Amino acid sequence: MPEITGRRFDKAVRETVPRSRYAASVDLAVLLDRIAADVVPELGNGAVADYIPALARVDPRRFGMAVASLDGTVAGVGDWQVPFSIQSVSKVFTLSLVLSLAGDEVWWRVGREPSGDPFNSLIQLENEGGIPRNPFINSGALVVTDELARFGDVTERLLAFLRTESGCSDIEVDAEVATSEAEHADRNRALAYFMASYGNMRHPVPDVLAQYVRQCSIAMSCADLARSALFLARHGVRNDGTRLLGSSAAKRVNAVMLTCGTYDAAGQFAYRVGLPGKSGVGGGIVAIVPGRCAVCVWSPALDARGNSVAGVAALDHFTTETGWSVF
Ligand code: DON
Repeated sequence: MPEITGRRFDKAVRETVPRSRYAASVDLAVLLDRIAADVVPELGNGAVADYIPALARVDPRRFGMAVASLDGTVAGVGDWQVPFSIQSVSKVFTLSLVLSLAGDEVWWRVGREPSGDPFNSLIQLENEGGIPRNPFINSGALVVTDELARFGDVTERLLAFLRTESGCSDIEVDAEVATSEAEHADRNRALAYFMASYGNMRHPVPDVLAQYVRQCSIAMSCADLARSALFLARHGVRNDGTRLLGSSAAKRVNAVMLTCGTYDAAGQFAYRVGLPGKSGVGGGIVAIVPGRCAVCVWSPALDARGNSVAGVAALDHFTTETGWSVF
């Protein structure tokens, strides 16, 4: 048996990892144009979310993608400046805000494991004593919203953060989507009351639900979302150079995005894309390349798990072509 030495191992690694796989610099405009052309066959595959009627009115074939680099510059393609309903992508920002204000306290009330069940499932809550599996399914996000409400109006705080980070002062709650969502919120109401019965709600359920619905109904473009998520690519540092999170907390948010951010398809998303990502039923997905950029893609037609079909395909192309993945 040959002796294995550190030197030999180094040599073996050098010889088996082709340097060209990891693009040092990429012409993002050219790359995004190519991706937009490549995903055309996927556009409209799947179905728009219709359990919130206002979301069902969106054209399923729309597609936009934006990449925000660490210096704040943004490259985009297609509908990258068109506002859409951010829905559960909001959950990344509310979790980050609550961690910045309350530190790790929220983890007493919500776990960090993938659920393997649909995002609005009630099943695990009973078996696990009213503690949601993670902050990115609806029950977990309701707990995060409830915790954030200790510090004042959740939606106003979230809007202020998103407007500052994106540089877009027009970001607002879409009132039509909010009304539609509030009128069809029985499942979320059930989740919240069920957790309240276990003592895992601080504020009255109607108040928490109202805040949750408003945060989900915020409308933003891919460009706005990519810029707003840059702090996660910058290990917690905001666009003005101040810190929202310590680097360890930012690492942990990215880790939970990777394992839980695309619901019961998180394994498949990690396999295809290889990045922390958070999707929403409006068809948006935000993905983070730590130390490099934040990406947002939007296309409203969803697969059976609630993730954008063309969006996942576009991110798959993006990481495959650039090699910019966490793996
Ligand atoms: O509460 C809901 O069902 C929607 N406002 C958000 C769902 C979504 O985007 C996926 N959830 N994690």
